[in-house]
Parts: sequence; structure tokens; C-alpha cells
Amino acid sequence: MPPTGRYQAGVIIPQPAQPNLLAVVADIDGQAAVGPLLAELGKTVLSLTAGTEPRLLGLAPGDLTITVGVGPGVVRKASAAGAALPGSADLPQFSREEIVPQARGGDLLIQLCASDALVLPVAAAALLDQAGARVTERWRQSARRGPNTSVAPGRAAPRNLLGFIDGIIGPTTTTEQQSDLWLAGPAPVAGGTIAVVRRMELDLTRFAAQSVPEQEAVFGRRRATGVPLSGGTIASNPDLGAKTPDGRYLIPADAHVRRAHANVVGVGLMLRRSYSIDDPKPGLLFICFQNDLHTFTATLTHMDDSDALLAFTTTTASATFLILPGFDAEHALGSTLFG
Ligand code: HEM
Repeated sequence: MPPTGRYQAGVIIPQPAQPNLLAVVADIDGQAAVGPLLAELGKTVLSLTAGTEPRLLGLAPGDLTITVGVGPGVVRKASAAGAALPGSADLPQFSREEIVPQARGGDLLIQLCASDALVLPVAAAALLDQAGARVTERWRQSARRGPNTSVAPGRAAPRNLLGFIDGIIGPTTTTEQQSDLWLAGPAPVAGGTIAVVRRMELDLTRFAAQSVPEQEAVFGRRRATGVPLSGGTIASNPDLGAKTPDGRYLIPADAHVRRAHANVVGVGLMLRRSYSIDDPKPGLLFICFQNDLHTFTATLTHMDDSDALLAFTTTTASATFLILPGFDAEHALGSTLFG
């Protein structure tokens, strides 16, 4: 998986995403020089993914991707203009959160993904060793994805722990990705994107006690096929206006795909790249990427009012990060922001 280029790997490549993920959220010592730290982490990413890093202990990196982001506090301190940059705003609080202070926010995100689950903690240890005392880990989460269902040529999505195919709608064309996913500017952040990471516990027992039609009404799609309740194919956008002959919406008013729909909320598309978890509790490590934090906050605010899915969720960790622009051997990771 090429780690270099205009964008970091681990967002749109590879597709489909690798089956295993480890997310590490850490703080950066206030006295540490952030530019050199990120540059060193970038070099370590290159050697880890090339398989030349001794601290990988001879393991084959395979399709390992490592994606690095910095928290709002770090962006604000980047320069005099930092407080106005995308990525400088903290996430507000939402309903149904039970988040200990340790699991809210953070200065550094290291997202590692690979087919080989064993590589992930070893690569993370190498990066944390490189950072040394400059970085203090806050929390980490291992997560995984099951088999993928094909959505369209070259596009596939896995099921989540509620049994539904997750990650169908999003910015899939280059045009959509330019307009909604990647930051076009200002220059220090061009080629970056904004990540939101939220650990959401799911009440599997209560969800499983619902009939299949009730479960499908929660999402607005068929459980077996992923087809919207308004019809079409798995790749179809939900038709939110479609009604039964007696005038009821085919996609209920509180269905997740209606409450979260970009047009209903009035925002751009978010790229959802979530992974399932079973430790400390079963749930979803919800991960999304977009070029405007408002896309996420407005969507969740709209869901908070009445999304049927939220009744099955408790959020136990929450953070947002500026995913740094892509880098290579000549252009250090983070150099556009901290150079
Ligand atoms: C545990 C929590 C969640 C689960 C299990 C979940 C699952 C799903 C599923 C199965 C779909 C339908 C298929 C698809 O388009 O991928 C979907 C759609 C969607 N979800 Fe979630 N989701 C969760 C939380 C969230 C959150 C927190 C947000 C954002 C604030 C969100 C935003 C969206 C969006 C934007 C869509 C596409 C709607 C459309 O245009 O059809 N989801 N989600």
C-alpha cells in the first residue's frame, strides 16, 4: 500500500479497507517540538510499511497502512493562523455519552490497519518508541471488519454487529471526494481531511429482540441485502419521499438513513470507515472522514433529535483529528503545518 502521495493511506486506500484496525490516541507533551516529532513519525511510517524497520521484528508489513492525525489543540498552536484552520475546533458533547475525561479528545491519532492483526501492535510500539517521552498514550482500540458485500464495481462494505451492511453511502467518485472529503486549502492543510472517531457500545440483546422488519425500520434498509426500504439495489440512494398506498413513508421518519441523510441535514457526504469491536463491550468504532467538521456535528445533531438507532447506542470515547496531508521522503509528514 503506497504510504506516500498527496493524501495519506488508510482513508480511501485500500478499498475495501483491511480487516483489522488499531487506533491509538495520545497526548503530546506541551514542551515538545511538534514538527520534528511528526517528521520522525513519518519516517518511521515509511520504514514500517517498507518492511525495513528493525522494530517490526521481521514481521511482514503486507498491506499495513498508518494514518496520522493531530488534535484541535495542536492545530490551534501550529501558527498564528492556527485557530482559524480546519481541524482547530473541538467536538461538542452530544446525547447518550458516557465518556471518561481520558477518552475525550487527544493530541495525536495513529490509525493502523492491516490484514495481519499481529503487525498492528508491533508497528504501534515502534511509533510510540520513536515518540518516546514526547507522547503519552490515552487510550487504544483494536477493531475488526468481517467479510465484505459488493456494493458496486470496485466498492464493497462489511456488516456491523447489528447485522447490517455499513458504509454504503459516501463520497465515492473523485468529484465527490474533492468536494466533500479532502481539504483543498488553506495551504498548510491541503490534502488533509478531518477525522471523527467515536467508540459506540451497541445493545445487541435489545436489538436482537426486535423483529426483522422492526430492525430494518431502525436503519431504513433491508438487513439481508442492504437495499433501501424504498427499493432499488444496494447501491441505491434511499428515496425518502416514497410512500405506501395508504400514505406512510417506506423509510420511516426516524430511520437512521433518513436522519443521517446528507440532503436532509444539508451537508456534504462523509466517508464512513468504521470497524466493529467486542472489547470492552460489543459495538462500533465509528470512524468518518470529511473536509468540514460541521458535516459530522450537524448530522449527529439531527440524529440526536429522533434517530431510532441512537436508542441502542452509548458513546464511550470521542475525538476529532486533522489527518495530515500526504507526505514522502522529500516532504516530511506535518511539514506544511509545522515546517
Ligand atoms: C453505532 C452506530 C452506527 C451504526 C451501527 C450505523 C450504521 C449505519 C448503517 C447500517 C447505514 C446504512 C448503510 C450505509 O449507507 O452505510 C448507515 C448510514 C449512514 N450513517 Fe450510520 N451508523 C452509526 C452511527 C452513525 C453516526 C454517529 C453517524 C454520523 C453522525 C452516521 C452517519 C451515517 C450516514 C451519513 C449514513 C448514510 C445515510 C444515507 O445517505 O443513506 N452513522 N449507518
